[in-house]
Amino acid sequence: MGMAKKADKKAVNIGILGFGTVGSGTARILVENSELIKERLGFPLTLKKIADLDIRKDRGIKLGKDVLTTDARQVTDAPDIDIVVELIGGLGIAKELLLRAIKNGKHVVTANKALLAEHGQEIFGAAKKYGVSLGFEASVGGGIPIIKALGEGLIANRINYVYGIVNGTSNYILTKMTNEGMEFSTVLKEAQELGYAEADPTLDVGGADSAHKLTILASLAFGIPLSYEEVYTEGITGITPLDIAFASELGFKIKLLAIAKAEGGKVELRVHPTMLPKDYLISQVDGVMNAIYVNGRETGDTLYYGRGAGDMPTGSAVVSDMADIARLVMSGAPAKSGLSVSKSSRMGIRPMDEVESMYYFRFYALDQPGVLSKISGVLGENNISIASVIQKGRKEGEAVPLVILTHKAVEKNVRRALKKINSMRAVATGKNCLIRVEGQE
Ligand code: HSE
Repeated sequence: MGMAKKADKKAVNIGILGFGTVGSGTARILVENSELIKERLGFPLTLKKIADLDIRKDRGIKLGKDVLTTDARQVTDAPDIDIVVELIGGLGIAKELLLRAIKNGKHVVTANKALLAEHGQEIFGAAKKYGVSLGFEASVGGGIPIIKALGEGLIANRINYVYGIVNGTSNYILTKMTNEGMEFSTVLKEAQELGYAEADPTLDVGGADSAHKLTILASLAFGIPLSYEEVYTEGITGITPLDIAFASELGFKIKLLAIAKAEGGKVELRVHPTMLPKDYLISQVDGVMNAIYVNGRETGDTLYYGRGAGDMPTGSAVVSDMADIARLVMSGAPAKSGLSVSKSSRMGIRPMDEVESMYYFRFYALDQPGVLSKISGVLGENNISIASVIQKGRKEGEAVPLVILTHKAVEKNVRRALKKINSMRAVATGKNCLIRVEGQE
């Protein structure tokens, strides 16, 4: 089971499943940095096999004879391969092959956040059962060593919160919309052409990719089970240039944030567009860049910034897992599966209804006497206190945008109030917008 002692082994052998973007980056690093890696580890990582359906396309990487194969079993079942790296992605064949490799006693590395977030219990359980290591640094934040930071660097901390921008595609789209006043759909097309988006871009812009990553981060940070189903998830498809302009006028930027916050024995897990004060550091994180804050009771705020996607950054994270596992293999030390549910601080998940936030509402309301007082009346009845109001345009008898910023309110009350406001005759339904606001009150 990969527990050979150093005296028996001269190198650790690698097999890769999937020769797409991340597979290519990983292979390139192994080939081009082989000397450097050997020097640092004291032994080489030898790339034995790469399996992919397309082995004809030239990726511009110098590979040895017989490295490429279309037969995945030559990776998962090969007796001489120590570490199997799954870079296929998705929940289908990737899961089957990863489990097969684990059952064959291979140590595994994966970048597959969807698989770990949605089927992690099974995957981590199998790794434990078969006594193999499972590395997943590349599943969150691409080249940012955030898994290592949480699992090792901050191991002595009680974590208060983790939040950040963990989807480069959405951040790229919001940045372009903000800087150039462009519509969502136009920028999405551009992001897809540039190759930033997932194969299914709804995972990016619908928030699920961020929710997958948040699930993994929260489990590591708080020792809670992987809770993907309980993450409140809202993407950026409803964000318009109008709301971005209002946000700017109010001193905010809009970012898609993934937030995990522990308070009163419960953890909030939420992904949604968020208005942040322009002068916050995280508001400066633009384009495809990612940034993650971790606040530990002992360290206070720590911030991790870098490229969250792409062949070389993600390949760098994959190879770092290989190096960690290879060291264990060479020393004969026990395997490490990297994720464990805490027995001492088992926290529950706070339902979204109970979450408190400040809010931005943008209605289209008729510009006539008494409308604002009716709306503010409903907010008051629901214990929602108004911080500021903007109304633009003067078109008597016609709908104009009406923006309201609130103080902290409870989500359940906000939903109840909005339902009532949306049913008013003076308010155009289906055209309204709610964005949660972070910052000082
Ligand atoms: N589609 C992801 C992103 C790639 O845009 O961040 C990395 O998981």
